[in-house]
Amino acid sequence: MNENPAHDKTLDEKTLNRRKMLEGLLVTGAALAMSSGVVGATAAMTPAKPIKLAKAVEIAPLEKLTKNLDSVPFELEGKVKALLVRVAPPEDKDALKALLGSGRLLEVEQKDKDDKVSKLYLTAYTLVCTHRGCTVNAPDKEGNLQCPCHGSRYDATGSVTQGPAKKALPGIQLEVKEGKVLAVAMLS
Ligand code: FES
Repeated sequence: MNENPAHDKTLDEKTLNRRKMLEGLLVTGAALAMSSGVVGATAAMTPAKPIKLAKAVEIAPLEKLTKNLDSVPFELEGKVKALLVRVAPPEDKDALKALLGSGRLLEVEQKDKDDKVSKLYLTAYTLVCTHRGCTVNAPDKEGNLQCPCHGSRYDATGSVTQGPAKKALPGIQLEVKEGKVLAVAMLS
C-alpha cells in the first residue's frame, strides 16, 4: 500500500531521470572518447568518469572465465545488452597502466591450489553501437563484434577496428567481490 505518494513520486522521478541519463549515454556512445584501433593509451590517459549504477549487476563467477576471450553476456537494468570479456592485456607497460587507470580494464589476482599467483584482465561494455545505436552481434571466436546495421567492427576490448563507428563500445566498470564479477558503473 502506498502510504506516501509524494515520496514515491520523487523516487519515480529520480529513477526516470537516472534511466534517461543512462540511456542517453548508451545511445550516443558518449561513454568513452576512445579512438579507433588497438586499445589505446590516448583515451585511457584521461580516467573515465564512472556513473554508478543504481544497483550493481552480478555477472558471473570469476572461475567461469578460464582463458582469454571467454565472455559472458549480461544485461543492464534488464534491457541493455552487455558483454564481459577476459582479454589479453597490452604488452606495453604504459598502455596497460593507463588502461587500468581509466577503469576500462580490471586486473584480478588469482591463486591456484599451490598458492601461485597469476593475473587476469577483464573488460566489459554495452553492445550498443556508437554509430547509430544498433545492437552489435555476439562475438566471433576471435572476440570480434560486428554491427548488423552499417558494418562497424569492434575487437574483443570493444575498440573500433572498422567504421563508420568512431568510438569504442561504451565501457562498464567492474569489481570482483567474493569471487563474483560485478558491473558497478558506466564509464563516461
Ligand atoms: Fe552500427 Fe551504424 S549503427 S554501424
